[in-house]
Amino acid sequence: MPKKNKKRIIVTSALPYANGPIHIGHLVEYIQTDIFVRFLRLIGEDVVYCCADDTHGTPIEIKAKELGIVPEELIGRFHRDHLRDFTSFNIKFDSYYSTNSKENKYFSDLIFERLKKKNLIYQKEIELTYCGKCGRFLPDRYVKGKCPKCNAPDQYGDVCESCNATYKTTDLVEPYCVVCGSKPIRRISRHYFFKLSAFSDKLKKWLVENKNLQDEIKNYVLNWIKEGLEDWDISRDGPYFGFKIPNEENMYYYVWLDAPIGYISSFANTLKGDVKKAEREWNKAKIMHFIGKDITYFHFLFWPAMLIGADFNLPENIAVHGFLTVNKEKMSKSRGTFFTAEDFLKENDAEYLRFYYARVLSKKLSDIDLDFKELRDIVNNEMVANLGNFCYRTLSFLGSNFDGKVGKISQDRELIKNINEKIKKVKESYSEVNLNEAVREIMAISSLGNQYFQNKEPWKLVKEDKEKTHKIVGLCVNIVKNLSILIQPIFPSFSARLQEQLGVKELKWEDIDFKFENKKLNKPEILIKKMAEEAKEEFPLDLRVAQIDFVEDHPDADKLYVLKINLGKERRQLVAGLRQYYKKEQLLNKKVIVVANLEHAKLRGVRSEGMLLAADNGKDVGVLFVEKSLVGERVKFGNLENSSRMISFDNFSKIKMVVKDSQVVYNNLILGTKEEDVKAEKVVSGEVK
Ligand code: MSP
Ligand code: ZN
Repeated sequence: MPKKNKKRIIVTSALPYANGPIHIGHLVEYIQTDIFVRFLRLIGEDVVYCCADDTHGTPIEIKAKELGIVPEELIGRFHRDHLRDFTSFNIKFDSYYSTNSKENKYFSDLIFERLKKKNLIYQKEIELTYCGKCGRFLPDRYVKGKCPKCNAPDQYGDVCESCNATYKTTDLVEPYCVVCGSKPIRRISRHYFFKLSAFSDKLKKWLVENKNLQDEIKNYVLNWIKEGLEDWDISRDGPYFGFKIPNEENMYYYVWLDAPIGYISSFANTLKGDVKKAEREWNKAKIMHFIGKDITYFHFLFWPAMLIGADFNLPENIAVHGFLTVNKEKMSKSRGTFFTAEDFLKENDAEYLRFYYARVLSKKLSDIDLDFKELRDIVNNEMVANLGNFCYRTLSFLGSNFDGKVGKISQDRELIKNINEKIKKVKESYSEVNLNEAVREIMAISSLGNQYFQNKEPWKLVKEDKEKTHKIVGLCVNIVKNLSILIQPIFPSFSARLQEQLGVKELKWEDIDFKFENKKLNKPEILIKKMAEEAKEEFPLDLRVAQIDFVEDHPDADKLYVLKINLGKERRQLVAGLRQYYKKEQLLNKKVIVVANLEHAKLRGVRSEGMLLAADNGKDVGVLFVEKSLVGERVKFGNLENSSRMISFDNFSKIKMVVKDSQVVYNNLILGTKEEDVKAEKVVSGEVK
């Protein structure tokens, strides 16, 4: 609903690539932006939150080809998945569009033509890397070779990970195509260039005069300008998934040209695709982008230069955030620290993550670390023990002592003044996107509420002075109501459920007051639960150290032995097929590993109460001896707990334990006891049976 006399605010988050799932790193940005947008809506601003999938470029084209589908199909799938993930994290866009839209084609052509008319675009021949077998020019991620500076092998076409040198794909020594492995050639192509160099002064002016930008980033970018800006290649040869450049046969806009233009077209989508109106409204609005620090160059140089050149309104602010690390390291699939949005929700509530991020996000560019133990601690100690507890104890006390009715409230001036000051700070902090400060002040208000409740001891006072108690609890209810508004941007779902208990709905910032009197509330309920201790992962076998006390031949099978073993607390009998591989004396008194939870069976008429582990490479069998370990001790894979549930032989044979370099491995974890890593005898690589 457009509001009178108010400049519309257009807020955007960077457009996620349409070739992968949304992960918890992305969510830093979308949660940060969503909280800010919700705050603006709460204070009555006319705000639209626009985003889209970034759908063009070589990776998407190649991935679709690999999957045997057209790119449109691929980006369609990711569009649905992305929207589902954002929705489940309560991220609410006014428009979640696609850069592969007719509006985006319109604006890309419009901006390109305007720049061309002003001679801000020119053509130039350049030498590129071309794979004859694939029939395509190779962008820097699609060609590898030796670094031209340090000769390190297998480096990408833009930068050496070994010596950090930057170079062109054509500089690589002994290059090869990443897709087909063949040797590419050099080939000339005529590309379009945008005269970024002509914008140095204008960009500098915009940066220096803009009071909203973070200083850290401003200095960075001013430095780049000082070092001199190079013109920008904005075209790509086909095959390419993107928009064809007008009057060209096989030349497309580079994805980074039409991607930020996607902000404008996503906004046009809120106006039912009325592109003329969208341009007018864009130029009257306040624009604010949220981005991660990796895409600073595009947003602080290319994008504003394009906007200036094509006579479009510039952003008033671009908020830049740092990168997410998990346990202080870059997210990694092999270390098990890469979590998609969907993964996170399997074990956790979306609002836990919203809280965690809000609590640490500031104007700093430093990285943000997610540590799951810390997540649990802050959820349990701050969200539940402070905020959740204050709301619940207040409402349940009112429910059981005053039938859920709020009467007149106590006018504790000191407390109210104190809280009002904090509310002012919350507002300032939200406005400046200092979410960590907003959280701190909100939690402090909740603490004040808890202390007040605690000090007044209403559970005692109610027996002496019911009326006074009623007023005290009434004041607490007012604090709860105000908190329900203050937390709304961070906890939209918790806030809505809390307001339902208060018998109100969608309260706005202007509803913050201490006049919530003579109301009947709904039945209180606990709204947030503690996060459970991490469930320990289990290994399905109960592996134990056992000593062989006695060995004899099986009476009816010439490959089998019958062993008597000591498991510390008990003695058992096993049947083992080791007669071809071991003499009796080689086994007697040795310590071995036994599966203690295997269902008992009869082998050729002799009872077997478990099984001994041995490595098998098809030719030879090597028993896993553990001479340094203690009889009865548990043998474990890493920190997996052994299961004590009985297991059938069928299920046992499905468990894949292998021997690699003589070590026993399961899911990348190594088998060992407190005293030693288990080593297979004779067998270097094979299976464990
Ligand atoms: N498609 C471009 C943006 C085009 S905007 C016109 C892109 N996409 S992305 O999917 O790689 O990233 C989208 C946003 O998520 C970027 O702002 C990026 O910085 C952010 N993040 C991606 N991974 C991140 C972390 N691990 N941590 C924090 N933010 C991260 O870039
Ligand atoms: Zn190739």
